[in-house]
Amino acid sequence: MAAQGTRERFSSHAGFVLAAVGSAVGLGNMWRFSYLAAEHGGAAFVLLYLVMTAGIALPILLAELVIGRGAARSPIAALQHFGGKAWRPLGGLFVASGFLILSYYSVIAGWTLRYLLEGLGSAPEPDAAAHFQRITSGPAPVLWHLLFMGITVLVVAGGVRKGIERTSLLLMPVLFVLVVGLAVYAATLPGAELGYRAFLRPELDQLLSLGVLAQAAGQAFFSLSLGMGAMLTYASYLGGDENLPVEAALIAGTDFGVAFVAGLVVFPLVFALGLSEQVSGSTVGALFITLPSAFATLGGAGRIVGTLFFVTLAVGALTSAISLLEVVVASAIDRFGWSRRRAAALIGVVIALLGVPSAASLDVLGLVDQIAGNVFLIAGGLGLAVFVGWVIPDPTPELRRGARHVPWLRLWRWLLRFAVPVALTVILLGVTLPDTLAALRDFFAGG
Ligand code: TRP
Repeated sequence: MAAQGTRERFSSHAGFVLAAVGSAVGLGNMWRFSYLAAEHGGAAFVLLYLVMTAGIALPILLAELVIGRGAARSPIAALQHFGGKAWRPLGGLFVASGFLILSYYSVIAGWTLRYLLEGLGSAPEPDAAAHFQRITSGPAPVLWHLLFMGITVLVVAGGVRKGIERTSLLLMPVLFVLVVGLAVYAATLPGAELGYRAFLRPELDQLLSLGVLAQAAGQAFFSLSLGMGAMLTYASYLGGDENLPVEAALIAGTDFGVAFVAGLVVFPLVFALGLSEQVSGSTVGALFITLPSAFATLGGAGRIVGTLFFVTLAVGALTSAISLLEVVVASAIDRFGWSRRRAAALIGVVIALLGVPSAASLDVLGLVDQIAGNVFLIAGGLGLAVFVGWVIPDPTPELRRGARHVPWLRLWRWLLRFAVPVALTVILLGVTLPDTLAALRDFFAGG
């Protein structure tokens, strides 16, 4: 285990917050969120998502930050530090999630790299669906996935300050400007109101379904990078004087803000051009087919806007991917005493190989997303809530370092002890696990 004194540190609060926001803001905000909102009743879903973010995700985010900063260790060691050996397996689940989620996340990021570079070069493809089909089959997606993994490895190998922090400080402002600029452009499209109406009109009947509730909770976890120790790991590079509740609220608020603004980009584009029925066709492919069709219809401006859109996606994907890799790399450094470079390179190769089946088959990709991106994260969040709510000695002194006045401290503890575990258990047993088992059955029955 690395000695406390030599452990790397973020150089500033802003560096930490932007790195954490970078982890949170990613494909989940721009692609998964819009897709889910379109599927599940627009504003009704957005509302439910807000409730889940505030009531379930935010308490867990704060729990991760408290454990990470308090232990100043990578996840497995941090859980052991506060809870004893029995809690190492939960850390093991986190590391497994890191391996699996990054393996397919990088495949999708690879598509965005390809769309981005194509936007700069050749003329737009007239048939977006056929084009997507080409992009996701054969050896090409594997190569783009490897390229993206290579970039991710380089950043993480650079270290906490020179790799992760510097990349986030540089790229996140670019992402904010781009996403707002894109929303302004989308507002000028004739027919944009149709998109806003679809995004913001509440279909309240959807609020009552447990399935939609589970989707909203899963999305809140995925979008805030929770349930697998990513935020915990970043917080382990903090000093002691940060106001964690304020920073948690800042991270969650920014993440929601970007998802919302991304909705203001995607919905007008899709609806102004009458492409809305395409979105519900396929889960992962939706935006990769619909948006390029939209950009193609918009001519020269569409070419520029399309390229900028994919730049935004790629930037978001990179700052998220580095946090996924960092969880595994930090664990290997602590556990095996490897150098950071060696850990990043070796683990990068393993994840690159693990992603090949997802690069080759959308069905595999969807299945791994369902298992790791849904079941593992919710189970991990449940574990964390129980851990901080019931197992460890009082976490409030650690929380109070740097934050003397925390008005909702008791609410936080109550949520972690009762509301969050109950809600996550119901969601896991009632929806997520049955859905996943059904998906597995389908997958193996379908060949
Ligand atoms: N939050 C990222 C997104 O919205 C994805 C991500 C990065 C993630 N790190 C994570 C998800 C850790 C779960 C856990 O795209």
